[in-house]
Parts: sequence; C-alpha cells; structure tokens
Amino acid sequence: MSDTIKALNALLDGRYSCRGFLEDEVPQDTIEAIVRTAQKVPSWCNSQPWQLSVCAPAKTKELAKTLTEAAKRGLHSPDIAFPERYQGIYKERRSICGWQLYDAVGVVKGDKEGSFKQMMENYRFFGAPQVAIVSTSKELGAYGALDCGAFVTAFTLAAHGHGVATIPQAAIAGMCSLVRKELGISEDRDILCAISFGYEDTDHPANQFRTARAEVEDVIAWN
Ligand SMILES: Cc1cc2nc3c(=O)[nH]c(=O)nc-3n(C[C@H](O)[C@H](O)[C@H](O)COP(=O)(O)O)c2cc1C
Repeated sequence: MSDTIKALNALLDGRYSCRGFLEDEVPQDTIEAIVRTAQKVPSWCNSQPWQLSVCAPAKTKELAKTLTEAAKRGLHSPDIAFPERYQGIYKERRSICGWQLYDAVGVVKGDKEGSFKQMMENYRFFGAPQVAIVSTSKELGAYGALDCGAFVTAFTLAAHGHGVATIPQAAIAGMCSLVRKELGISEDRDILCAISFGYEDTDHPANQFRTARAEVEDVIAWN
C-alpha cells in the first residue's frame, strides 16, 4: 500500500461524527486552511456551488437558542425535501446507528423524553463552538447539491487533519427559513446542512461509538 493511500485511509478511519465538543474556538486561519483543502474536490463544470456561512462562537450560541426555541414549536419545511422514508436495508442501517448513539448516551427503548432530549442536541449543534451553514445555488439543482456533498466530506476530512472534529447536520436544514433570516442567506440558494465543528470532548458519552460500513460486494454490481 502506498504512503498516499495509507494517509487517506488514516484520515477516513480517524474521522467520525462528533457529538460532544470542548468550548475552545477554532482559529480563523485554521478554518480557512480547512476550506482551502476542501475546495479541491471536483464539481460539474468546476462550478464550485458551495457557499459557507460561518458563525463565530457568539453567533453560534445565538443561533442555537433561536433554533432550539423554534424546534420546540415544530419544524419548518426544508429547501430540499428530506428523505420520504427509510425502508429495507436503509431502515436497518438507520436504526443501527441510532441505537449506537442511544446506547452510548444511555437512552433506553421507550424513553421518549430521553430520545427527544438527544434529538434536540442537534439544535444546539451538540455544543460545538462554531458552525458553518452550507448552501448551494438553487438553479444548479441536484448536481449542485451533489458537488456540495463532496465538499462537505472533504471539509470533514481536512478538519480531522487539522485536529478539528465535525458533524454534518441535515437536521438544521429543516429550519431553513429561520437560518436564512438569521444569516442573511439569499433566496436563490438552497440550504443543505450545517457542519458543526470544534475540538472533540473525548470523554463525552456520545463520542464513544463508531459506525460500520457495508461490505464491498454489497455496493458493487459487476457487469
Ligand atoms: C449529509 C449528512 C447529514 C447528516 N445529518 C445529521 C443530523 O442531522 N444529525 C446527526 O446527529 N447526524 C447527522 N449526520 C451524521 C450521520 O449520522 C453520520 O455521518 C453517519 O451515521 C455515519 O457515522 P460517522 O459520520 O460517525 O462515520 C449527517 C451526515 C451527513 C453526511
């Protein structure tokens, strides 16, 4: 195995979705370095449709308060429709990673209050000091969103390379009208997700599990 692929695997193996952060702020030059690396992903016609609204700690706290209050009153509709349903293998995988999280934080079957509390953690960005809201150009449609997905992944990997923990959060896109208003994101852009980031709290119960992946033969159809 070449050193290059070893380094890539090390990045991919080390990254995970962090749900418990320390309070320390990530410096602006580190954020810029992460974005400079993440921007190297390919995009159709090199359109690079991603835009980030990065919130400093004070703004992150303010946004968390607004979203938490709104979430208690019920979700707004997202710019891009959420999955209609998870069936079959997708339902199974969703359930496995959901229970991994619940087991880690001590939510047991039937504990509606506990699961609601954990779900609400989304709106306080799991305590991350900073958050970036990712949006795409509406007129580039699904392929623009696809390009942004690549960017989000690269952001999480580059961040990990800088010792910064992340979690992409589509839950935040369910609040797009509020997020748009709070951050001045224009109507010609679709809000896709948040990336909450900061330094991991290694002792936090929610950070004590890792998700698995399907076997290669489950994802390749040889023709
Ligand atoms: C586009 C996207 C949206 C996600 N939205 C959420 C979310 O709203 N809340 C959450 O807790 N995790 C969210 N996640 C994290 C996934 O649950 C996580 O990536 C998956 O379970 C695999 O685990 P890992 O990232 O630790 O490898 C999201 C991930 C992606 C890529």
